[in-house]
Amino acid sequence: TVSATSFSKSEGPLIIAHRGASGYAPENTMASFELAERLGSDFIELDVRMSRDGELVVFHDKTVDRTTKYTGYVHNYTLRELHGMDAGSFFSAAYSNEAIVSLEEVMDRFAGRIGILIEIKDPPLYPGIEEKLAEIVRRYELPYEDTAGIIIQSFDFEAMYRIHTLLPDIPGAVLIHPDQHPLSDETMDKLASYASYINYNHDLLNEEIALEIHSRNRKVMAWTIRNDQDMKRMKKLGVDGIITNYPD
Ligand code: G3P
Ligand code: CA
Repeated sequence: TVSATSFSKSEGPLIIAHRGASGYAPENTMASFELAERLGSDFIELDVRMSRDGELVVFHDKTVDRTTKYTGYVHNYTLRELHGMDAGSFFSAAYSNEAIVSLEEVMDRFAGRIGILIEIKDPPLYPGIEEKLAEIVRRYELPYEDTAGIIIQSFDFEAMYRIHTLLPDIPGAVLIHPDQHPLSDETMDKLASYASYINYNHDLLNEEIALEIHSRNRKVMAWTIRNDQDMKRMKKLGVDGIITNYPD
């Protein structure tokens, strides 16, 4: 069985702020999450990776090159070193105080106030990341079926299967990359046996796929929406969630 997903706060699809309100503030920083909350998002989405000392950090890319002034793999730096990196200036000088943060800092601030959609990035690079994430999530006793709950997602199907066995009460989502499209009926059945959500790239998503997912009693979120036209198409398809850089 998969866990219930009876989120109820908003009418229509859930609004999920992608890496926070990343259209307006630097992605995956406290500033972008705070703004997402102020703009009325149901959920914030964030990416997690592991530091050299085994802590979970909120960061999208494999390396720190694009969004900080440093270079190299995230996993070659300790949490303390990552904390010292300015992750805001790449977006705007006004955000030079934004540092790379740990998942626990974000959870401490936001858990129970807003939903948190946690994406596990490149799990094969970080052995034990599923167990570490499960340990952190278990510490927060959240109303899992509420909009202030947690959903965990990944492009990595095996990691999501492991998460389902570690955290059977937490809704899981598999992300469908263009490389994995189209999914066979058999694959869709298998994913639906452990994932509550099948989250599609919006370019690939159509009526037929939305129906395939809903007919299996599973939900679908579309990513990543950056304009009105795509938002309207997704609403028409009856998606359950819209992952967007512009949650307003
Ligand atoms: O939530 C879906 C989306 O975040 C996946 O792509 O690269 O932005 O993590 P990416
Ligand atoms: Ca993501």
